[in-house]
Amino acid sequence: MDSIVVTGGGELNGQIPIAGAKNACLTLMPATLLSDEPLTLTNAPRLSDIKTMTELLQSLGAEVTSLAEDKVLVLSSHNADNPLAHYDIVRKMRASNLVLGPLLARHGKAIVSLPGGCAIGARPMDIHTMALEKMGAKIELKDGYLHAVAPKGLQGARIDFPFASVGATENILMAATLAKGTTEIYNAAREPEIVDLADCLRKMGAQIEGDGTSIITIQGVDRLGGATHPVVTDRIELGTYMLAPAFTGGEVELLGGRLDLVGAFVEKLDAAGIDVTETAGGLMVKRRSDVIKAVDIVTEPFPGFPTDLQAQMMALLCYADGTSVLEEKIFENRFMHAPELIRMGANIEVHGGTATVQGVKSLKGAPVMATDLRASVSLILAGLAAEGETVVSRVYHLDRGYEHVVSKLRGVGAQIERIKS
Ligand code: EPZ
Repeated sequence: MDSIVVTGGGELNGQIPIAGAKNACLTLMPATLLSDEPLTLTNAPRLSDIKTMTELLQSLGAEVTSLAEDKVLVLSSHNADNPLAHYDIVRKMRASNLVLGPLLARHGKAIVSLPGGCAIGARPMDIHTMALEKMGAKIELKDGYLHAVAPKGLQGARIDFPFASVGATENILMAATLAKGTTEIYNAAREPEIVDLADCLRKMGAQIEGDGTSIITIQGVDRLGGATHPVVTDRIELGTYMLAPAFTGGEVELLGGRLDLVGAFVEKLDAAGIDVTETAGGLMVKRRSDVIKAVDIVTEPFPGFPTDLQAQMMALLCYADGTSVLEEKIFENRFMHAPELIRMGANIEVHGGTATVQGVKSLKGAPVMATDLRASVSLILAGLAAEGETVVSRVYHLDRGYEHVVSKLRGVGAQIERIKS
């Protein structure tokens, strides 16, 4: 397993290009199942999770072709006749469950393995199944697979989400485009990736209103056509790299960055003493002084502070002047980066879903282990400012969600390299 070695010190200056959003691409790709005409996605990120989704769709009979060094994906499910999403693929990536709604809408049948838990939590699918049953699906769990049928097709329904689940909103949004009648989702997720999916579905002929708000209305249509759609900028990669100059000093421009994607995050950066300004090419970030101020964080569904940036923010607050309290309200076990940061000298106390970080003057490089996608990148960020060398192992977690992290950070002056093993 490869590792990444970061040597701390030195300002970062220059530009980092931001790729298309992993979490948008992973829901846009299954949309191909809703139509028998080609769907072309541009600005696709080059990540292992995209390869896993490609493998899954191909196992269902869809064709997926990568062009332009994998930045363009051409998908066609003209011959997609297999409704079985196998455990061997689904267990690698929870987002595989996003084929459930499209398969049901297209074939009236789906057999999708439950993803199983992952490092950050149990990740149940009760909201997905409750909603699809409201639309007329019959779903039962057998041998770890959800067996879903809708023999008379899906019917539009009013659906009240107990929690603004991103994945459940995406599954129901896709399923409802071909349902008979009108579907209304109340307490829908409002993430930019939902709006991106709705934009793409509208290009395919879907009738959707209210995406980006907590009430989404979908008028079912008989069929959807093809489309060409650019994947929206990745707000989590954007937020991750915006933090880099906050650790080290210097000035970094994030190319393709958009303020509207990171509103709540930028408010917290401002409170911590970091300036963010819009430029013609994206967003410029630099810290106002050497002192990072302590700030309290509560993770919430969009437009609140994103859970996917919690680990990265905790790493920064390890260096803050004062005490910060971070509350993780989305997942039940998303502080696994804390013990690794403590190995570097951080002062963090975790009690249930709350972490209290007492800032220290500096951290010391150390061998640390990546445990999940966002935790792994928080360790690299911490290493940028730590004294000495930080060796992050199990970096396959990183490859799931960050393309070319070494070259992007080296491009702004970081001392970082990947050691093949
Ligand atoms: C999406 O996961 C993202 N993944 C996650 O990003 C992100 O952290 C999460 O949304 C929250 O923003 C993709 O988009 C591929 P949820 P998802 O359904 O859809 C509970 C990353 O790092 N829940 O909003 O799985 C669930 O257990 C990944 O890129 C139920 O209880 O998130 C969790 O506690 C990590 N029942 C909370 O809701 C359900 O039926 C949020 O889940 C569904 C969810």
